[in-house]
Amino acid sequence: MSHILVTGGAGFIGANFVLDWLCQDGADAIVNVDKLTYAGNRKSLTAVEGDPRHIFSQTDICDGAEITRLLQSYRPRAVLHFAAESHVDRSIDAPADFVQTNVVGTHTLLEAVLAYWRGLDVPTRAAFRFLHVSTDEVFGSLGPADPPFSETSSYQPNSPYSASKAASDHMVRAYHHSYGLPVLTTHCSNNYGQFQLPEKLIPLMITRALAGKPLPVYGDGLNVRDWLYVGDHCAAIREVLARGRSGQTYNVGGWNEKTNLEVVQTLCDMLDTLKPKASGSYRNQIAFVKDRPGHDRRYAVDASKLARELGWKPAETFDSGLHKTVHWYLRNQDWVQEVLSGEYRHWVAKQYAA
Ligand code: NAD
Ligand code: DAU
Repeated sequence: MSHILVTGGAGFIGANFVLDWLCQDGADAIVNVDKLTYAGNRKSLTAVEGDPRHIFSQTDICDGAEITRLLQSYRPRAVLHFAAESHVDRSIDAPADFVQTNVVGTHTLLEAVLAYWRGLDVPTRAAFRFLHVSTDEVFGSLGPADPPFSETSSYQPNSPYSASKAASDHMVRAYHHSYGLPVLTTHCSNNYGQFQLPEKLIPLMITRALAGKPLPVYGDGLNVRDWLYVGDHCAAIREVLARGRSGQTYNVGGWNEKTNLEVVQTLCDMLDTLKPKASGSYRNQIAFVKDRPGHDRRYAVDASKLARELGWKPAETFDSGLHKTVHWYLRNQDWVQEVLSGEYRHWVAKQYAA
Protein backbone atom coordinates (compact mmCIF):
# COMPACT_ATOMS: atom_id res chain seq x y z
CA MET A 1 0.00 0.00 0.00
CA SER A 2 1.29 3.51 -0.77
CA HIS A 3 1.65 6.09 2.00
CA ILE A 4 1.57 9.81 2.57
CA LEU A 5 3.14 11.40 5.65
CA VAL A 6 1.16 14.11 7.44
CA THR A 7 2.60 16.31 10.21
CA GLY A 8 0.26 17.81 12.81
CA GLY A 9 -2.51 15.32 12.07
CA ALA A 10 -3.90 15.44 15.62
CA GLY A 11 -4.54 19.19 15.42
CA PHE A 12 -7.68 20.88 14.17
CA ILE A 13 -7.07 21.00 10.40
CA GLY A 14 -4.72 18.01 10.35
CA ALA A 15 -7.24 15.70 12.06
CA ASN A 16 -10.00 16.86 9.72
CA PHE A 17 -7.67 16.18 6.80
CA VAL A 18 -6.81 12.66 8.03
CA LEU A 19 -10.49 11.76 8.53
CA ASP A 20 -11.47 13.24 5.16
CA TRP A 21 -8.56 11.61 3.29
CA LEU A 22 -9.29 8.11 4.59
CA CYS A 23 -12.92 8.40 3.35
CA GLN A 24 -11.75 8.90 -0.25
CA ASP A 25 -11.75 5.97 -2.69
CA GLY A 26 -8.30 4.37 -3.01
CA ALA A 27 -6.79 6.56 -0.28
CA ASP A 28 -3.11 5.99 0.54
CA ALA A 29 -2.35 5.05 4.12
CA ILE A 30 -1.33 7.95 6.36
CA VAL A 31 1.72 8.17 8.61
CA ASN A 32 0.53 10.78 11.11
CA VAL A 33 3.43 12.54 12.85
CA ASP A 34 2.38 14.74 15.75
CA LYS A 35 4.14 15.83 18.94
CA LEU A 36 0.79 16.07 20.78
CA THR A 37 1.30 19.53 22.22
CA TYR A 38 -1.62 21.11 24.08
CA ALA A 39 -3.20 21.57 20.60
CA GLY A 40 -2.97 17.92 19.56
CA ASN A 41 -5.78 15.60 20.55
CA ARG A 42 -5.98 11.91 19.65
CA LYS A 43 -9.66 11.94 20.62
CA SER A 44 -10.27 13.80 17.34
CA LEU A 45 -8.98 10.68 15.56
CA THR A 46 -11.19 8.16 17.37
CA ALA A 47 -12.99 7.28 14.10
CA VAL A 48 -9.74 5.93 12.59
CA GLU A 49 -8.22 4.29 15.68
CA GLY A 50 -7.54 0.68 14.70
CA ASP A 51 -7.72 1.45 10.97
CA PRO A 52 -4.55 -0.14 9.50
CA ARG A 53 -4.34 2.77 7.04
CA HIS A 54 -3.66 5.18 9.92
CA ILE A 55 -0.21 4.90 11.54
CA PHE A 56 0.26 7.37 14.39
CA SER A 57 3.68 8.43 15.64
CA GLN A 58 4.11 10.80 18.55
CA THR A 59 7.13 12.63 17.18
CA ASP A 60 8.46 16.18 17.24
CA ILE A 61 9.25 17.53 13.75
CA CYS A 62 12.45 18.90 15.30
CA ASP A 63 13.62 15.27 15.74
CA GLY A 64 15.32 14.80 12.37
CA ALA A 65 16.57 11.27 13.10
CA GLU A 66 13.09 9.97 13.88
CA ILE A 67 11.55 11.76 10.87
CA THR A 68 14.23 10.10 8.70
CA ARG A 69 13.44 6.70 10.19
CA LEU A 70 9.73 7.16 9.44
CA LEU A 71 10.44 8.28 5.87
CA GLN A 72 12.73 5.29 5.24
CA SER A 73 10.28 2.84 6.84
CA TYR A 74 7.10 3.95 5.06
CA ARG A 75 8.49 5.51 1.82
CA PRO A 76 5.68 8.09 1.43
CA ARG A 77 4.89 9.51 -2.01
CA ALA A 78 4.16 12.92 -0.41
CA VAL A 79 4.64 14.85 2.82
CA LEU A 80 1.90 17.26 3.93
CA HIS A 81 3.10 19.70 6.55
CA PHE A 82 0.38 20.98 8.91
CA ALA A 83 2.30 20.91 12.21
CA ALA A 84 2.80 24.33 13.72
CA GLU A 85 2.26 26.48 16.74
CA SER A 86 -0.82 28.26 15.41
CA HIS A 87 -2.37 30.65 17.97
CA VAL A 88 -1.56 34.35 17.46
CA ASP A 89 -2.28 35.37 21.09
CA ARG A 90 0.05 32.68 22.41
CA SER A 91 2.75 33.82 19.99
CA ILE A 92 2.54 37.35 21.39
CA ASP A 93 2.72 35.97 24.93
CA ALA A 94 5.61 33.53 24.31
CA PRO A 95 7.19 33.53 20.83
CA ALA A 96 10.03 31.02 21.40
CA ASP A 97 7.95 27.88 20.76
CA PHE A 98 6.81 29.41 17.47
CA VAL A 99 10.37 29.91 16.28
CA GLN A 100 11.29 26.41 17.40
CA THR A 101 8.45 24.49 15.73
CA ASN A 102 7.54 26.72 12.81
CA VAL A 103 11.05 27.71 11.75
CA VAL A 104 13.51 25.16 13.17
CA GLY A 105 10.97 22.31 12.89
CA THR A 106 10.12 23.09 9.26
CA HIS A 107 13.81 23.33 8.41
CA THR A 108 14.53 20.02 10.15
CA LEU A 109 11.67 18.39 8.26
CA LEU A 110 12.88 19.82 4.94
CA GLU A 111 16.39 18.47 5.54
CA ALA A 112 15.09 14.97 6.25
CA VAL A 113 12.70 15.05 3.30
CA LEU A 114 15.38 16.35 0.92
CA ALA A 115 17.75 13.51 1.82
CA TYR A 116 14.94 10.96 1.41
CA TRP A 117 13.78 12.49 -1.90
CA ARG A 118 17.31 12.43 -3.33
CA GLY A 119 17.45 8.68 -2.69
CA LEU A 120 14.29 7.91 -4.70
CA ASP A 121 14.38 6.47 -8.21
CA VAL A 122 13.80 8.97 -11.01
CA PRO A 123 10.04 8.48 -11.66
CA THR A 124 9.23 8.35 -7.92
CA ARG A 125 11.30 11.46 -7.34
CA ALA A 126 9.46 13.30 -10.13
CA ALA A 127 6.04 12.39 -8.69
CA PHE A 128 6.96 13.24 -5.06
CA ARG A 129 5.46 16.39 -3.45
CA PHE A 130 6.10 18.36 -0.25
CA LEU A 131 2.94 20.36 0.52
CA HIS A 132 3.39 23.17 3.03
CA VAL A 133 0.25 24.53 4.73
CA SER A 134 0.71 28.25 5.32
CA THR A 135 -1.58 31.14 6.13
CA ASP A 136 -2.94 34.39 4.68
CA GLU A 137 -1.50 36.18 7.75
CA VAL A 138 2.00 36.25 6.22
CA PHE A 139 0.74 39.03 3.90
CA GLY A 140 -0.04 41.38 6.80
CA SER A 141 -3.09 43.59 7.17
CA LEU A 142 -5.34 45.15 4.48
CA GLY A 143 -7.02 48.55 4.42
CA PRO A 144 -10.80 48.66 3.97
CA ALA A 145 -10.63 49.28 0.20
CA ASP A 146 -7.57 47.15 -0.62
CA PRO A 147 -8.01 44.20 -2.99
CA PRO A 148 -7.74 40.78 -1.33
CA PHE A 149 -4.35 39.06 -0.98
CA SER A 150 -3.20 37.32 -4.15
CA GLU A 151 -0.38 34.78 -4.44
CA THR A 152 1.97 37.64 -5.40
CA SER A 153 1.11 39.96 -2.49
CA SER A 154 4.21 41.02 -0.60
CA TYR A 155 5.07 39.46 2.74
CA GLN A 156 4.40 41.76 5.73
CA PRO A 157 3.93 39.51 8.77
CA ASN A 158 2.97 41.40 11.94
CA SER A 159 2.85 38.86 14.78
CA PRO A 160 5.50 36.42 15.99
CA TYR A 161 3.19 33.66 14.67
CA SER A 162 2.91 35.09 11.16
CA ALA A 163 6.62 35.99 11.11
CA SER A 164 7.50 32.39 11.97
CA LYS A 165 5.15 31.08 9.28
CA ALA A 166 6.66 33.53 6.77
CA ALA A 167 10.14 32.24 7.64
CA SER A 168 8.98 28.67 7.06
CA ASP A 169 7.44 29.65 3.70
CA HIS A 170 10.74 31.18 2.60
CA MET A 171 12.64 28.07 3.63
CA VAL A 172 10.24 25.86 1.66
CA ARG A 173 10.63 28.11 -1.38
CA ALA A 174 14.42 28.03 -1.04
CA TYR A 175 14.50 24.20 -0.95
CA HIS A 176 12.65 24.22 -4.26
CA HIS A 177 14.85 26.80 -5.94
CA SER A 178 18.19 25.65 -4.52
CA TYR A 179 17.73 21.87 -4.49
CA GLY A 180 14.77 21.19 -6.81
CA LEU A 181 12.56 19.69 -4.07
CA PRO A 182 9.02 19.59 -5.57
CA VAL A 183 7.05 21.79 -3.20
CA LEU A 184 3.55 23.25 -3.08
CA THR A 185 2.47 25.98 -0.65
CA THR A 186 -1.08 26.91 0.30
CA HIS A 187 -2.16 30.13 2.03
CA CYS A 188 -5.55 29.74 3.62
CA SER A 189 -7.80 32.04 5.58
CA ASN A 190 -9.44 31.45 8.99
CA ASN A 191 -10.72 27.89 9.20
CA TYR A 192 -13.65 26.83 11.35
CA GLY A 193 -15.47 23.55 11.92
CA GLN A 194 -15.40 20.40 14.03
CA PHE A 195 -12.49 19.61 16.39
CA GLN A 196 -11.21 23.20 16.66
CA LEU A 197 -9.71 24.02 20.04
CA PRO A 198 -11.87 26.56 21.90
CA GLU A 199 -9.08 29.13 22.09
CA LYS A 200 -9.88 30.27 18.51
CA LEU A 201 -12.74 32.72 17.97
CA ILE A 202 -15.68 30.55 16.85
CA PRO A 203 -15.38 27.57 19.24
CA LEU A 204 -14.35 29.93 22.06
CA MET A 205 -17.55 31.92 21.64
CA ILE A 206 -19.79 28.83 21.35
CA THR A 207 -18.23 27.27 24.44
CA ARG A 208 -18.38 30.42 26.55
CA ALA A 209 -21.91 31.26 25.42
CA LEU A 210 -23.14 27.85 26.55
CA ALA A 211 -21.30 28.24 29.86
CA GLY A 212 -23.00 31.61 30.48
CA LYS A 213 -19.65 33.45 30.41
CA PRO A 214 -18.82 36.83 28.82
CA LEU A 215 -18.00 36.68 25.08
CA PRO A 216 -14.72 38.66 24.86
CA VAL A 217 -14.61 40.67 21.62
CA TYR A 218 -11.24 42.39 21.15
CA GLY A 219 -11.20 46.17 20.56
CA ASP A 220 -14.17 47.52 18.58
CA GLY A 221 -14.99 44.11 17.06
CA LEU A 222 -14.61 45.51 13.53
CA ASN A 223 -11.51 43.54 12.52
CA VAL A 224 -12.30 41.51 9.42
CA ARG A 225 -11.41 37.89 8.70
CA ASP A 226 -12.26 35.62 5.76
CA TRP A 227 -13.86 32.38 6.96
CA LEU A 228 -13.28 28.98 5.35
CA TYR A 229 -15.06 25.79 6.39
CA VAL A 230 -12.43 23.19 7.27
CA GLY A 231 -13.98 20.53 4.99
CA ASP A 232 -13.55 22.90 2.04
CA HIS A 233 -9.94 23.47 3.04
CA CYS A 234 -9.30 19.70 3.11
CA ALA A 235 -10.80 19.36 -0.38
CA ALA A 236 -8.58 22.20 -1.63
CA ILE A 237 -5.47 20.52 -0.24
CA ARG A 238 -6.38 17.25 -1.97
CA GLU A 239 -6.71 19.12 -5.27
CA VAL A 240 -3.44 20.99 -4.86
CA LEU A 241 -1.63 17.77 -3.97
CA ALA A 242 -3.10 15.93 -6.95
CA ARG A 243 -2.76 18.58 -9.63
CA GLY A 244 -0.94 21.64 -8.29
CA ARG A 245 2.14 22.71 -10.21
CA SER A 246 5.43 22.10 -8.42
CA GLY A 247 6.92 25.29 -7.00
CA GLN A 248 3.60 27.15 -7.08
CA THR A 249 1.64 28.75 -4.26
CA TYR A 250 -2.17 28.68 -4.00
CA ASN A 251 -4.49 30.85 -1.93
CA VAL A 252 -7.46 29.12 -0.32
CA GLY A 253 -10.32 31.30 0.92
CA GLY A 254 -14.02 31.12 1.59
CA TRP A 255 -15.09 34.43 -0.01
CA ASN A 256 -16.64 35.19 3.39
CA GLU A 257 -15.34 38.45 4.82
CA LYS A 258 -16.98 39.21 8.19
CA THR A 259 -16.23 41.49 11.11
CA ASN A 260 -15.63 39.64 14.36
CA LEU A 261 -18.70 41.28 15.83
CA GLU A 262 -20.84 39.98 12.94
CA VAL A 263 -19.48 36.48 13.52
CA VAL A 264 -20.20 36.57 17.25
CA GLN A 265 -23.67 38.03 16.78
CA THR A 266 -24.53 35.40 14.14
CA LEU A 267 -23.38 32.67 16.54
CA CYS A 268 -25.52 34.13 19.32
CA ASP A 269 -28.55 34.20 17.02
CA MET A 270 -28.01 30.55 16.00
CA LEU A 271 -27.72 29.52 19.64
CA ASP A 272 -30.85 31.50 20.50
CA THR A 273 -32.69 29.24 18.05
CA LEU A 274 -30.93 25.92 18.70
CA LYS A 275 -30.39 26.19 22.46
CA PRO A 276 -32.59 29.03 23.76
CA LYS A 277 -32.01 30.18 27.33
CA ALA A 278 -34.64 31.52 29.68
CA SER A 279 -32.80 34.76 30.46
CA GLY A 280 -32.79 36.41 26.99
CA SER A 281 -30.43 36.42 24.03
CA TYR A 282 -26.84 35.19 24.08
CA ARG A 283 -26.00 38.58 22.54
CA ASN A 284 -26.31 40.01 26.07
CA GLN A 285 -23.11 38.13 26.99
CA ILE A 286 -20.98 40.06 24.42
CA ALA A 287 -18.26 42.06 26.20
CA PHE A 288 -15.73 44.35 24.49
CA VAL A 289 -12.26 43.77 25.98
CA LYS A 290 -8.73 45.11 25.54
CA ASP A 291 -7.50 44.70 21.98
CA ARG A 292 -4.85 42.20 20.86
CA PRO A 293 -1.48 44.02 20.56
CA GLY A 294 -0.74 44.80 16.88
CA HIS A 295 -4.12 43.33 15.90
CA ASP A 296 -4.29 42.97 12.08
CA ARG A 297 -7.33 44.90 10.87
CA ARG A 298 -8.39 42.94 7.80
CA TYR A 299 -7.56 39.75 5.93
CA ALA A 300 -9.19 38.83 2.63
CA VAL A 301 -8.11 36.14 0.19
CA ASP A 302 -8.39 35.99 -3.58
CA ALA A 303 -8.69 32.26 -4.28
CA SER A 304 -9.38 32.63 -8.01
CA LYS A 305 -6.10 30.94 -9.08
CA LEU A 306 -7.23 27.74 -7.36
CA ALA A 307 -10.64 27.97 -9.03
CA ARG A 308 -9.13 28.74 -12.45
CA GLU A 309 -6.34 26.16 -12.46
CA LEU A 310 -7.78 23.33 -10.39
CA GLY A 311 -11.54 23.94 -10.43
CA TRP A 312 -11.80 24.21 -6.61
CA LYS A 313 -14.38 26.38 -4.94
CA PRO A 314 -15.86 26.16 -1.44
CA ALA A 315 -18.98 24.00 -1.10
CA GLU A 316 -20.20 25.70 2.09
CA THR A 317 -21.55 29.21 2.56
CA PHE A 318 -20.72 30.87 5.87
CA ASP A 319 -24.25 30.20 7.05
CA SER A 320 -24.27 26.48 6.14
CA GLY A 321 -20.75 25.90 7.51
CA LEU A 322 -21.52 27.71 10.74
CA HIS A 323 -24.73 25.72 11.24
CA LYS A 324 -22.79 22.46 10.86
CA THR A 325 -20.19 23.73 13.30
CA VAL A 326 -22.63 24.87 15.98
CA HIS A 327 -24.54 21.57 15.70
CA TRP A 328 -21.26 19.66 16.06
CA TYR A 329 -20.26 21.54 19.23
CA LEU A 330 -23.72 21.05 20.71
CA ARG A 331 -23.54 17.30 20.03
CA ASN A 332 -19.92 16.86 21.13
CA GLN A 333 -19.77 18.49 24.54
CA ASP A 334 -17.77 15.52 25.86
CA TRP A 335 -14.92 16.33 23.40
CA VAL A 336 -15.09 19.98 24.51
CA GLN A 337 -15.17 19.19 28.22
CA GLU A 338 -12.09 17.00 27.91
CA VAL A 339 -10.22 19.77 26.12
CA LEU A 340 -11.30 22.29 28.73
CA SER A 341 -9.35 20.44 31.39
CA GLY A 342 -5.57 20.56 31.75
CA GLU A 343 -3.19 23.06 30.19
CA TYR A 344 -5.88 24.82 28.17
CA ARG A 345 -7.62 25.91 31.37
CA HIS A 346 -4.46 27.73 32.52
CA TRP A 347 -4.28 29.67 29.24
CA VAL A 348 -7.88 30.86 29.54
CA ALA A 349 -7.37 31.90 33.15
CA LYS A 350 -4.32 33.96 32.17
CA GLN A 351 -5.67 35.46 28.91
CA TYR A 352 -9.12 36.43 30.13
CA ALA A 353 -8.35 37.18 33.79
CA ALA A 354 -9.61 40.76 33.59
P1 NAD B 1 -3.49 23.39 15.64
O1 NAD B 1 -2.76 24.27 16.58
O2 NAD B 1 -4.90 23.03 15.91
O3 NAD B 1 -2.71 21.99 15.48
C1 NAD B 1 -1.31 21.95 15.34
C2 NAD B 1 -0.88 20.49 15.48
O4 NAD B 1 0.55 20.44 15.30
C3 NAD B 1 -1.19 19.89 16.86
O5 NAD B 1 -1.72 18.60 16.72
C4 NAD B 1 0.17 19.86 17.55
O6 NAD B 1 0.29 18.80 18.49
C5 NAD B 1 1.11 19.66 16.37
N1 NAD B 1 2.46 20.15 16.62
C6 NAD B 1 2.82 21.34 17.17
N2 NAD B 1 4.16 21.40 17.29
C7 NAD B 1 4.65 20.25 16.79
C8 NAD B 1 5.96 19.72 16.61
N3 NAD B 1 7.05 20.41 17.01
N4 NAD B 1 6.11 18.50 16.05
C9 NAD B 1 5.02 17.78 15.66
N5 NAD B 1 3.76 18.21 15.83
C10 NAD B 1 3.57 19.44 16.37
O7 NAD B 1 -3.34 24.08 14.20
P2 NAD B 1 -4.38 24.10 12.99
O8 NAD B 1 -5.34 25.19 13.22
O9 NAD B 1 -4.83 22.73 12.73
O10 NAD B 1 -3.40 24.57 11.83
C11 NAD B 1 -2.71 23.63 11.01
C12 NAD B 1 -1.83 24.38 10.03
O11 NAD B 1 -2.63 25.26 9.24
C13 NAD B 1 -0.78 25.25 10.71
O12 NAD B 1 0.42 25.17 9.95
C14 NAD B 1 -1.35 26.66 10.63
O13 NAD B 1 -0.33 27.63 10.57
C15 NAD B 1 -2.12 26.58 9.32
N6 NAD B 1 -3.28 27.48 9.24
C16 NAD B 1 -4.30 27.40 10.14
C17 NAD B 1 -5.43 28.22 9.99
C18 NAD B 1 -6.58 28.17 10.95
O14 NAD B 1 -7.52 28.97 10.79
N7 NAD B 1 -6.61 27.29 11.91
C19 NAD B 1 -5.49 29.12 8.93
C20 NAD B 1 -4.40 29.21 8.06
C21 NAD B 1 -3.32 28.36 8.20
O1 DAU C 1 -5.89 33.92 8.97
C1 DAU C 1 -5.47 32.62 9.23
C2 DAU C 1 -5.13 32.47 10.70
O2 DAU C 1 -6.38 32.43 11.38
C3 DAU C 1 -4.31 31.25 11.02
O3 DAU C 1 -3.06 31.33 10.37
C4 DAU C 1 -4.12 31.07 12.53
O4 DAU C 1 -3.46 29.86 12.81
C5 DAU C 1 -5.49 31.04 13.17
O5 DAU C 1 -5.37 30.97 14.57
C6 DAU C 1 -6.28 32.30 12.78
O6 DAU C 1 -5.69 33.50 13.35
P1 DAU C 1 -6.60 34.66 13.95
O7 DAU C 1 -5.79 35.47 14.87
O8 DAU C 1 -7.32 35.40 12.87
O9 DAU C 1 -7.69 33.74 14.72
P2 DAU C 1 -8.35 33.85 16.16
O10 DAU C 1 -9.45 32.83 16.20
O11 DAU C 1 -7.37 33.87 17.27
O12 DAU C 1 -9.04 35.29 16.10
C7 DAU C 1 -9.96 35.63 15.08
C8 DAU C 1 -10.34 37.08 15.27
O13 DAU C 1 -11.13 37.18 16.46
C9 DAU C 1 -9.17 38.00 15.45
O14 DAU C 1 -9.43 39.24 14.81
C10 DAU C 1 -9.08 38.19 16.97
C11 DAU C 1 -10.53 38.07 17.41
N1 DAU C 1 -10.73 37.50 18.76
C12 DAU C 1 -10.11 36.32 19.07
C13 DAU C 1 -10.25 35.76 20.32
C14 DAU C 1 -9.53 34.47 20.67
C15 DAU C 1 -11.55 38.13 19.68
O15 DAU C 1 -12.13 39.19 19.39
N2 DAU C 1 -11.68 37.58 20.93
C16 DAU C 1 -11.05 36.43 21.30
O16 DAU C 1 -11.19 36.01 22.48
